[in-house]
Amino acid sequence: MNALALTDDIARHFSRARESYEHAARLQRLVAAKALTLLTPTAGLLLDLGSGPGWFHPKLKQHCSELIALDLSHDMLQKTRAAQQATLVFQADAQSLPVASTGIDRVFSSLMLQWCEQPGLVLQEIHRVLKPGGSAVISTLLDGTLQEFKLAWSQVDSHQHVNKFLPLDFYQQLKCQHPELGLRLQTETVQLDYPDVLALARELKDLGANTVTQGRNKALTGKQRWQKVQHAYPSRSIDGQIGASYQVLYLTLTKQNSDS
Ligand SMILES: C[S@@+](CC[C@H](N)C(=O)[O-])C[C@H]1O[C@@H](n2cnc3c(N)ncnc32)[C@H](O)[C@@H]1O
Repeated sequence: MNALALTDDIARHFSRARESYEHAARLQRLVAAKALTLLTPTAGLLLDLGSGPGWFHPKLKQHCSELIALDLSHDMLQKTRAAQQATLVFQADAQSLPVASTGIDRVFSSLMLQWCEQPGLVLQEIHRVLKPGGSAVISTLLDGTLQEFKLAWSQVDSHQHVNKFLPLDFYQQLKCQHPELGLRLQTETVQLDYPDVLALARELKDLGANTVTQGRNKALTGKQRWQKVQHAYPSRSIDGQIGASYQVLYLTLTKQNSDS
């Protein structure tokens, strides 16, 4: 799939999930709450990149005087508009921000970066639009996320069922190669429980997070295959629940004051 088709596919899946997203957003709630603790409040403009349905905006509004929301998905933005917290809501790709340079005080972006083909470019764009002295908090997922689900599927067929996530090393190198970004990295492993593999797959679909970016099988998965995946799933608790791990990276980016 080429980059444009992939971006359309990602936007389409998130648009379809506009009504189910908020209910399914267990990981997203935990991660956004933690990311918010890293955000320095501002009396100025805050840009929420990949805002989704804007469910977090009442909290973000307490950290700024004006909120701007941006997302790839038109339908997600309809929900954001209905929430009436953001002054400005617009549809765009975070890899190419239609925002003037040095106009924004803070950027917040939770669990969007892993959907971007060029995360380094997103960080450069964030740096460009920030005012000198401005800062950003960005959360994303790393390699090792959903590793149990991936392992279970690998015993059933050779298709890709779980997205590839970048390793921590990628961001460590970016930090060294681009000191001007003022990056700081913090990692966390979050474990969520599910009754079975179908519940896990349903949650990903309800979130719109079911685009598989490379080597996916387009055929529907039958009951027997799901049973095989359930059987092969590696970590199960005594009560039969399955656990799924998410490797979360919190990045803070600080743009230096021009006089420092
Ligand atoms: C997992 S949701 C996170 C939404 C919200 N930030 C939250 O924490 O609940 C990811 C969002 O990023 C958006 N997105 C994905 N790729 C994007 C891109 N390249 N530019 C802007 N938004 C993007 C999707 O449309 C979706 O609404």
